[in-house]
Amino acid sequence: MMVRIPGAYLHQHTLDAVVHANLKFLTTADVGAVLSLFSQDMTIIDGQLFVNRINFSVTMAATVGSAVIIAISSGYLAISYPIFIALLYLVQKVYLPTSNRLRILDLEAKGPLYTNFLDIINGLATICAFGWSSNHITRNKELLEDSQRPSYLLAMVHQWLTLVMNIIVAILAVVLVSLGTHLHRGHNSGLVGAGLVTIITFGALLTSIVNSYTGLEIYLRAISRLKMFAESTEQEGQPEENYTPKLEWPRRGKVELKDVSVSYDGVFFVLTGVDITIEAGEKVALCGRTGSGKSSLMALLLWVIDPEPYSTILIDDTSLHQINQTTLRERLLAVSQDAIFLPDSSSFRANLDPFDIASTEDCMAGIELIRLGKLMEGQGGLDAAVKTSELSQGQKQMFNFARVLIRRRIRKRIMAASGQNEGGILLLDEVTGSIDTETERSIKDIIEREFKAYTVIMITHRMEMATGCRRIIIIDSGRVVEDRDLVRLAAVEGSRFQRLWLARGV
Ligand SMILES: Nc1ncnc2c1ncn2[C@@H]1O[C@H](COP(=O)(O)OP(=O)(O)OP(=O)(O)O)[C@@H](O)[C@H]1O
Ligand SMILES: [Mg+2]
Repeated sequence: MMVRIPGAYLHQHTLDAVVHANLKFLTTADVGAVLSLFSQDMTIIDGQLFVNRINFSVTMAATVGSAVIIAISSGYLAISYPIFIALLYLVQKVYLPTSNRLRILDLEAKGPLYTNFLDIINGLATICAFGWSSNHITRNKELLEDSQRPSYLLAMVHQWLTLVMNIIVAILAVVLVSLGTHLHRGHNSGLVGAGLVTIITFGALLTSIVNSYTGLEIYLRAISRLKMFAESTEQEGQPEENYTPKLEWPRRGKVELKDVSVSYDGVFFVLTGVDITIEAGEKVALCGRTGSGKSSLMALLLWVIDPEPYSTILIDDTSLHQINQTTLRERLLAVSQDAIFLPDSSSFRANLDPFDIASTEDCMAGIELIRLGKLMEGQGGLDAAVKTSELSQGQKQMFNFARVLIRRRIRKRIMAASGQNEGGILLLDEVTGSIDTETERSIKDIIEREFKAYTVIMITHRMEMATGCRRIIIIDSGRVVEDRDLVRLAAVEGSRFQRLWLARGV
């Protein structure tokens, strides 16, 4: 218990810091260094505190006892104790800082190895395809060597400490034997014998005291590293963003953006002066070239990135500036551009319903709608592990889409329970990018049918999907360049949309 409580608390505290970190941290953090905090530092805290404390107390008591026995065996020897204590003080003054730094180096040297290892796992297919295996094996060996260096030096320093302690004890033993053999008066031969026997283990005890004291220091440093990490990791959200709107919010689904500008790095603006008003229940397609800022606009509506302070974003007349982010993301139904899955070995159910709020019928209904029920049954059913490597890109996208279908069923129930008509906001980012035209058409139908009462903002490069919306907004270099009714926009001579429309052959 004594070990688990601080360990569990620190783990939770550090995990909270990572989970609530802002986008800048999430996109730039050194994964290996973060992993090292959770693996090595947590292991030190969980495993070594108790052992070190007990070791330190027991060896301290044993050393004092031994020192007393040696002093009793020869009273003259006790006179030399201050000299030995001074010697010990000098030794620890050299040993402690050196071993501390080496242990910190030992912890930090593992970071690049972990990062490299994770990179290799993520890019294994590419590495094999390009025949880069031997280069990466060599690089991994180099990093492994580098990460072992501090451990080797630490072992050397430890040997040095043992040697010095043994020399000190050897001097003590020589003095004790000399006193015992030359000064017969006042020396009991039995006690001298007991003193000599005690001296045999005295060196090991002294070494153990210094080591367990160093262990305690390392333990405290591990705690301070975790605390520093938690305090210095920039968190998303501000204290004033704590408003939780009513359960049915945003039922109408009106979205207003006024003079919205966003920058990831504070220098380059990915959206500039965007003014858009989307009425309740409207279906809007957001089109534009790659990198024009469409996904950034969606990230903004989910408050993953903060806009410039002068920007205003209102959903059903409530400013997003004041809403708690977790609540906001729970209320808006969104599908990201990249298909996201929980780590391998997590079940279909966990992937379809990560917050464990849906019933089995909800999950089955969602999966049946996207017609992947058979595939799921083939892999073992709802509670079997998803083998993402055995899913095509299109199937992964469909699973991602099934998540909002399930969440919509739950939302419908919640709203019905409070006597409200259904409604909300659905954000879709390129959900049919890897899907064939026929399946795409069925997804379009599902959106029209299931999300009739919703405001739908759909980012798409595909004409088939765009034509399902009444209104088309075209973004270019972070600015809204065209915003019209679908048919009227298609009729505008020379418009970007007309070019796309004609290319479709309609
Ligand atoms: N996390 C990030 N950090 C810094 N810059 C980013 C980040 N994400 C996107 N950007 C930049 O913001 C700009 C807009 O990117 P965004 O992803 O919004 O484009 P997009 O219109 O969705 O493109 P696509 O059609 O390819 O998905 C790009 O110049 C991109 O480099
Ligand atoms: Mg995008």
